[in-house]
Amino acid sequence: MKKTIPSKCLAPSILSADFTKLKDEIDSVSKYSGMIHIDVMDNHFVPNLTIGPCVVHSLSKVTNLPLDCHLMVDKPDSLIKSFVESGANLISVHIENNAHLNRTINLIKKEGILAGVAINPSTPVSTLEEILSDVDFVLVMSVNPGFGGQSFIKKSISKIKKLKELIFEEELSVKIEVDGGVSISNLKILKEAGVDWFVAGSSVFSSKSPRDSAKELFEEING
Ligand code: DX5
Ligand code: ZN
Repeated sequence: MKKTIPSKCLAPSILSADFTKLKDEIDSVSKYSGMIHIDVMDNHFVPNLTIGPCVVHSLSKVTNLPLDCHLMVDKPDSLIKSFVESGANLISVHIENNAHLNRTINLIKKEGILAGVAINPSTPVSTLEEILSDVDFVLVMSVNPGFGGQSFIKKSISKIKKLKELIFEEELSVKIEVDGGVSISNLKILKEAGVDWFVAGSSVFSSKSPRDSAKELFEEING
């Protein structure tokens, strides 16, 4: 199902949340969040294993926030339907391991939800040229995917600026989502570079007060 997402918003990543109380963790930040970011890892595309559709299904019953599923997996096509049926409202897939990206994006869009393409830190913006007009958003990884709590890669800022220019030149309304190492210390510069949606895992859920951290990020995003 398509849900309304604010034009600029915080997307807390539950990868750094306490998995024994995901509902409480989400509730603590929901006032300041435009969606919830869910990292799906398969131990093939990335060296880690996380969440599948059944967890997404459970979460869809306890929050009204849009569920943003970031698929860091090989062969995403066979998973799309089950994630959508479980309640995913946005799905992003990586460009690096997909020879038929246009088909995958069309599969997501056919399900009536928002489709995004994700790029790793070493993947240039130029690789997006032929797919940009087909997607609703681009997820720019600002760490190497696989784990929360890594340091932000500064080069991502110039990539985001380049992407923003490309979107402008092509007169598209594609959103830019940034993911990895996002915190209050780099949020302003990311916002100026053109980011619309800010994923934040450890800076929210590993902090002393997830609620206060989400509030601080929310205020900087909307300030
Ligand atoms: C990493 C994931 C991120 C991760 C971000 O592969 O895609 O969404 O949860 O965590 P932080 O904000 O701690 O870098
Ligand atoms: Zn992610």
